[in-house]
Amino acid sequence: MSKLPDVGTTIFTIMSKLANDHEAINLSQGFPNFDVDHELINTLKRNAENNAFHQYMPMTGFPRLNLAVCDAVQSSYKRALDPSSEVLITAGATQGIFTAIMALIEKDDEVIILDPSYDCYDPAVVLAGGRPVHVSLSKDFKVDWDAVQGSMNDRTRMIITNNPHNPSGRVWVNEDFMRLEALMESYPNVLILSDEVYEYITFENKHISINERSSLIDRSIIVSSFGKTFHITGWKIGYLVANKFLMDEIKKVHQFNVFSVNSIGQATLADYLTQVDLNSLGSFYQKKRDLFRSLLQSSKFDLLPCEGTYFQAARYDKISTLDDVSFCKELTMRHGVAAIPISVFNKSGVDNRVIRFCFAKTDETLIEASNKLCRI
Ligand SMILES: Cc1ncc(COP(=O)(O)O)c(C=O)c1O
Repeated sequence: MSKLPDVGTTIFTIMSKLANDHEAINLSQGFPNFDVDHELINTLKRNAENNAFHQYMPMTGFPRLNLAVCDAVQSSYKRALDPSSEVLITAGATQGIFTAIMALIEKDDEVIILDPSYDCYDPAVVLAGGRPVHVSLSKDFKVDWDAVQGSMNDRTRMIITNNPHNPSGRVWVNEDFMRLEALMESYPNVLILSDEVYEYITFENKHISINERSSLIDRSIIVSSFGKTFHITGWKIGYLVANKFLMDEIKKVHQFNVFSVNSIGQATLADYLTQVDLNSLGSFYQKKRDLFRSLLQSSKFDLLPCEGTYFQAARYDKISTLDDVSFCKELTMRHGVAAIPISVFNKSGVDNRVIRFCFAKTDETLIEASNKLCRI
């Protein structure tokens, strides 16, 4: 008996191993390969030497970090939060998502997931006893709001959204929020789990957060990740924002599956957040996006719009008729660059022949990878 009979080895593990075995450049998994800010490391060193930070932190989070999150939300989205009751520090966004779903989804509740979707949503809903209802995005990765509306009914309890979107790099526009707001009005019992881990990585258009939508905030759990914001995916520290009523339920689960998150990491992030300009992250990655896209101009790949995140989606139909999983394997083994096939993010497995490159890499890595990709 398995609680998750459909879950096997993830494509990220498969592609990273293949990349290692074939010494390919790994643009598959979404993690940066450049140094983190030395100021962050210095702060970490200082906090490690300070004997105040080696024991359990409060369950909700290190108070100064909760406060720093409130300041960031206030300055980015003009939303005032109570640091002790409306912010929860989590062991990465993944744990925050899992905990929120465990706390709020009951047996047979339906949860809408927009495909292609990040891989941790569906199993969490299944483990909570709920029923994932997968709704496809359009071929250009926009939300098909008529399809979302058509899949809602009185068993629907939650809709999971992800904006900026992994794997496509798409960013929602005001019209999307207006459609969501209209839908939520018709279904007053539905909650929103808003995965905004790439909130500070948008380019031409600034990210619109659920935090800014007054009619939605009391029904939403917003998820973010310091891993994405500060290039420290391995630290596994993130946070949830929700009103007290929802957060009280989430904390009941959090205290028994994590209790409190890594102390030195929290103390360090609390200090660091007072020193950095979160809004500079977008232009940092925009340079990388522009470099990568310009380098691939002469390749046979068709690059899709990249409005946010550090992922570039690309069609390869001028190169191959292979399915996307086989194409990514061939790309790794024969051409020396690993990417991720987007079909694996679709529950239905539908394959639109699109792959995803991660450009959170040094310029040298991007140049080397692009040279190989342009030779195909
Ligand atoms: C959309 C999305 N949500 C959540 C996560 C998980 O974030 P964390 O590493 O903080 O658990 C990721 C990581 O890749 C992601 O892309």
